[in-house]
Amino acid sequence: MKLYGNIIGWGKYIPSRVITNADLEKTIDTSDEWIVTRTGIRERHVVGDDENTSQMSIAAAREALERAGVRPKDLDLIIVATSSPDYLTPPISSQVQHGLGAKTIGAFTLVTGCTGFVYALSTAQQFIASGACKTVLVVGAELLSRFVDWNDRETCVLFGDGAGAVVIQATDVPSGVLSFVLGSDGAGGEHLILPGGGAANPPSHKNLDDGLHSLKMNGREVFKFATRVLGKALRQAIQQAGLQTEDIDLFIPHQANIRIIESAAQFANLPPEKVFVNIQKYGNTSAASIPIALCEAFEEGRAKIGDTLAFVAFGAGLTWAAAIVKVAENVKPAPKPRWQNFFTEWLARDHNLSRFGNYATPNAPSSEPKEEKTRQSG
Ligand code: COA
Repeated sequence: MKLYGNIIGWGKYIPSRVITNADLEKTIDTSDEWIVTRTGIRERHVVGDDENTSQMSIAAAREALERAGVRPKDLDLIIVATSSPDYLTPPISSQVQHGLGAKTIGAFTLVTGCTGFVYALSTAQQFIASGACKTVLVVGAELLSRFVDWNDRETCVLFGDGAGAVVIQATDVPSGVLSFVLGSDGAGGEHLILPGGGAANPPSHKNLDDGLHSLKMNGREVFKFATRVLGKALRQAIQQAGLQTEDIDLFIPHQANIRIIESAAQFANLPPEKVFVNIQKYGNTSAASIPIALCEAFEEGRAKIGDTLAFVAFGAGLTWAAAIVKVAENVKPAPKPRWQNFFTEWLARDHNLSRFGNYATPNAPSSEPKEEKTRQSG
């Protein structure tokens, strides 16, 4: 039986503090008019002193789990996409696993800049298609307000903080990631870089004084790169899914610049009414931008169950990623007849079945204690 990873829950967390373009006019040499015409951004949300990336991730994940009707302890895997974790180590994915009260399941962090969510979603789909996992949490979270130089008008006006999450679950109904295109061109890495804090330029007074701990960007080069790859990746993904542009119900692009979004939509012949844009409210929230936009598209009725959605992103690396995703109805698998559960439990109690592998729940991670597995099967 072919397995698909259907998106059955979505959630977001947006910090409440807002910085408008008018606020920025007071601190740097910029104008609302410049920011709106060049980027489409009117305001962005940033965290307060007591918020951080793991908290935002957990809040978005809780909302997604609740909507999916899935308990944290029913998750099989957690993937968190972010370039701005709380710490270099421990990984934020383990913080999220613990914070949610999930079992001691696999959890990992994926770092591909603004394309992180699409990379993570495509990865999650592989775990489901292979039968290794049944229910996976994918989070895209970013807190770039602590990594931009608020005196650098070329970067600080662009970014905002937030988190988005989806729960994907195995089903035999064709759904989830129908196709994906992932790309990377490290030759352009210098155009979007946070030079300090890693092994190349570890924390030091000098590196701090030299401003290496804030994001550096060559906006013009990133812009050229984005317009070159986005439309193409989108078209490739549509083609690989065996679809035509007309089959896409809604295009949910990475929200980095309205002009880049329009250029990608035009390249793929997608009319404006099929393009979702919320950049005006949040700016570029990097790996969180697509899952946040997905949530809002559902909230506003622009996305519906049964729709075929197109995600496309670009970002640091330089990287790009596109995925065609079908959202099917969340049909809970029919419960097993009671005699089957009883039989399974009786067998597990009276015989040592370990030589047959994970008999009770074939999809459960093998590191779990046997007692848990038996209970899960009920
Ligand atoms: N306010 C006012 N003027 C600004 C400004 C700001 N916030 N930021 C830059 N400028 C100035 C520049 O200094 C430049 O001045 P100059 O002509 O005197 O040198 C002028 O505006 C035009 O700069 P330019 O780089 O040509 O503007 P642009 O049309 O390319 O827009 C970006 C700049 C950054 C908005 C655009 O290049 C962009 O969006 N790039 C992609 C960035 C991105 O998406 N990064 C995240 C990747 S995930």
